[in-house]
Amino acid sequence: MKLLLVNIKELLQVREEAPSKVAGTDMNILPTLKNAWLLLDGDCISDFGTMQQLPKISVEKTIDCTGKIVLPTWCDSHTHIVYAGNREQEFVDRINGLTYQQIAENGGGILNSAKKLQNTSEADLYEQSAARLEEVIRMGTGAIEIKSGYGLTTEAELKMLRVAKKLEEKYPVAVKTTFLGAHAVPNEFKGNKAGYLNHIITDMLPKVANEKLADYVDIFCEEGYFSVEDTHQLLGAANSYGFVPKIHVNQFNAIGGVKAGVVHDALSVDHLEVLTEADIEVLQNSNTMPVALPSCSYFLSIPYTPGRKLIDAGLPLALATDYNPGSTPSGNMNFVVATACIKMRLTPEEAINAATLNGAYAMGLSASHGSITKGKAASVIITKEIPSYGYLPYAFGSNCIDTVIANGKIIA
Ligand code: NIG
Ligand code: FE
Repeated sequence: MKLLLVNIKELLQVREEAPSKVAGTDMNILPTLKNAWLLLDGDCISDFGTMQQLPKISVEKTIDCTGKIVLPTWCDSHTHIVYAGNREQEFVDRINGLTYQQIAENGGGILNSAKKLQNTSEADLYEQSAARLEEVIRMGTGAIEIKSGYGLTTEAELKMLRVAKKLEEKYPVAVKTTFLGAHAVPNEFKGNKAGYLNHIITDMLPKVANEKLADYVDIFCEEGYFSVEDTHQLLGAANSYGFVPKIHVNQFNAIGGVKAGVVHDALSVDHLEVLTEADIEVLQNSNTMPVALPSCSYFLSIPYTPGRKLIDAGLPLALATDYNPGSTPSGNMNFVVATACIKMRLTPEEAINAATLNGAYAMGLSASHGSITKGKAASVIITKEIPSYGYLPYAFGSNCIDTVIANGKIIA
C-alpha cells in the first residue's frame, strides 16, 4: 500500500545519505524539513520533500499531518521485555530501605525473576511479553533489542530466546536478540561461578548458535556478578561462534569492563552510570557505542550516565530503556528522551539522535532504521499537534503521540 503523509509541520531526522552514527558536536545537528510530505510504499520509505514541490502521486491513503511533527520510530537497543510476572514487592522493599544489591544478596533480584520464568510455560511467557511489545509499539518503538538472562538454565534461556524470535515473526517491528546467560549465577551453581561460566560456554552457547536464536552475546560485568576475567573468557568463546558482544558494564562499579568490551569489539557498552577517564579514553579509540539507560537511574535512584561528558569528549551516545522487571519496569522511550534532556543535559537534538540513529547503530540496524532515508523501514511516529520538537522532552509526562506507523502498518 502507498501511504502519503502531507502538510507535515516538520519532518525530523531527514538524511539523504544516513551516517551509521553521529558523535560529538554532530549529535547536536538534527536535519529537518518544514512543511513536508512523506511517501511510504509498503514497508519502505519511498520519497519525501516539501509541500511546495509535491508531485502528483496516486496513493491508497493520505494522512493530513497539519500541525504535527513526524519522526522515525524510536530504536530501543537494550531491553529485557521477555520476563514472567513482576518484582513489585522488591520495589516496596527498596522504598522501605533495602538496596538493590541487598535484595539480590537475599535471593531476590535476577534469581527471583529466573524462578518465576522457569515455572512459566512458553505460551504464557509469549502472551506476557507480547503485551509489553504491543505497549511499547504504541509508544513509538519501531526497532527493539531483546535479551535472555532470566532463564539461567539451558532450557529456560532457549525458551526466552524462542519467545523473542516469535515476537519478531508476529509484529511489524525489527527485533534483535541477545543471549545473556551470564546475567547472574543461579542457585544450582552457588559458590561455583566458574562452573556456571563453563556450562554457558560448553552447553548453552553452542545450542543458541545452532538454533540461530541470538544476534549478540551479553554479560553482566559487575562486582558480585561476573568479573573482567569472566568477560574475556565468555566473549572470547562467543567470538568463535561469530557472536558480537553488547555488554552490561559500569552500572555500580568501574572495574575495567569497558576496556574488555572494546577489546572484543563490542557493538555497545551499556549502563555506564559510573565512568572513569580511562573508560572514556578507551571508547574514543573504538567503534563501540556507549548506551545510557536513564530510566534505570531514575527507578533505582542511582547516578545518571554522564552523557554530557561523553558527547563533549567527541563520543557518540545512544539511549535505550532497559525495560525489565527489576531495575526499569518501563519501556517508554519518550520518557527516556525527556529524562536524558532533564537529568543528563542533552539537548533535544542530541537526545533524538541518540534514540534514533545511534540506537539503530547499537543493534546493527543502521541500514534500515533510525532516519528518514529512502529505502529505510516505513516506521514513523506522527505526533499530536505540538508547537515544536523540543516540546517532546519538555512535556515529559504527556503522551504527544497521535499515530505510529510500523513497517507501513498503521498502529494508531
Ligand atoms: O540492565 N543490570 C543488570 N541487569 C538488568 C536488571 C536486572 C534485574 O534487576 O532484573 C539491568 O538493569
Ligand atoms: Fe539491562
